[in-house]
Amino acid sequence: MKRALLLLLFVLPVASVFQALSADAQYVGAKKCMMCHKSENRGDQWGKWSAGPHAKAFITLKSDASKTIAQQMGIADPSSHGKCLQCHVTAFGAPAAKLADGFSHDEGVGCEACHGPGSLYKSMRVMKNLAAGTQDPQAVAFIRGDAESCLGCHNEASPTYKPFDFDKAWAEIEHNIPQ
Ligand code: HEC
Ligand code: HEC
Ligand code: HEC
Ligand code: HEC
Repeated sequence: MKRALLLLLFVLPVASVFQALSADAQYVGAKKCMMCHKSENRGDQWGKWSAGPHAKAFITLKSDASKTIAQQMGIADPSSHGKCLQCHVTAFGAPAAKLADGFSHDEGVGCEACHGPGSLYKSMRVMKNLAAGTQDPQAVAFIRGDAESCLGCHNEASPTYKPFDFDKAWAEIEHNIPQ
């Protein structure tokens, strides 16, 4: 009993320090991932994302198609309305303190929309440890990504919803590191 209490006294503060750290993680913007993720032989994640649908998700909200959809919902400017931004940008609704200097919603659905805010994990050391499995992802707010995470946006709340087939959708945005 005493031992358990003593353990708790040590474990709890350590756990909350980690939580405080990951809670402090900031969104840095996709450009900060570019320098290490654009080489062809490592899968060119930057190039694939830039050319894919997610990088233009914010610009889409300025199109005539978006204005028409928005009008029907009584929204004048889709590119500044939460009912559209919530799925068309990274870090929608995050408090200013979570956004690093230089971060801009204009990047659309960026790397961090799926992988978590990057300020704590974007260093070479942490990234290598994450890939090697020796770094606790949660402690640095890192998310590896999976099929379920897509459904946060690819769902019926989207005014243009198309039934979502993960395998097909993933094939379109796949950015694996070649073995
Ligand atoms: C300083 C260089 C560097 C930066 C900056 C960087 N990464 Fe990485 N990242 C790496 C390296 C090295 C790996 C290990 C994989 C490899 O060998 O290519 C990696 C691996 C990853 C992985 C796979 C991890 C795993 O579990 O296998 C993801 C996802 C990732 N990075 C996302 C990002 C995102 C998102 C950003 C920007 C917020 C970013 N990286 C910024 C160097 C970097
Ligand atoms: C933060 C919200 C968000 C998340 C999370 C998200 N997407 Fe998307 N996705 C969008 C938006 C918005 C578009 C439309 C972009 C445009 O056309 O401007 C889109 C478009 C796409 C498209 C092209 C259009 C289509 O439906 O065929 C594919 C493919 C896609 N996403 C795959 C995925 C996959 C796979 C995942 C999960 C790994 C995912 N998305 C996660 C918001 C998201
Ligand atoms: C629940 C998340 C979500 C919300 C909210 C949302 N979108 Fe989207 N949007 C998506 C996704 C995901 C796609 C990709 C196609 C699909 O499955 O709907 C998309 C695609 C689009 C497209 C491109 C359609 C195409 O087929 O190329 C337009 C235009 C668009 N959205 C406008 C809007 C507008 C305007 C609003 C606000 C009134 C809005 N969206 C709100 C998730 C969302
Ligand atoms: C729409 C969501 C989404 C976006 C945007 C996104 N990723 Fe990913 N990423 C994923 C998913 C899902 C996986 C697959 C995880 C798996 O295979 O277990 C992944 C895997 C990776 C991997 C590891 C690949 C491997 O073979 O191990 C790296 C590296 C990576 N992403 C980097 C990035 C970078 C850098 C960006 C931005 C330039 C980015 N991702 C944008 C969802 C996304």
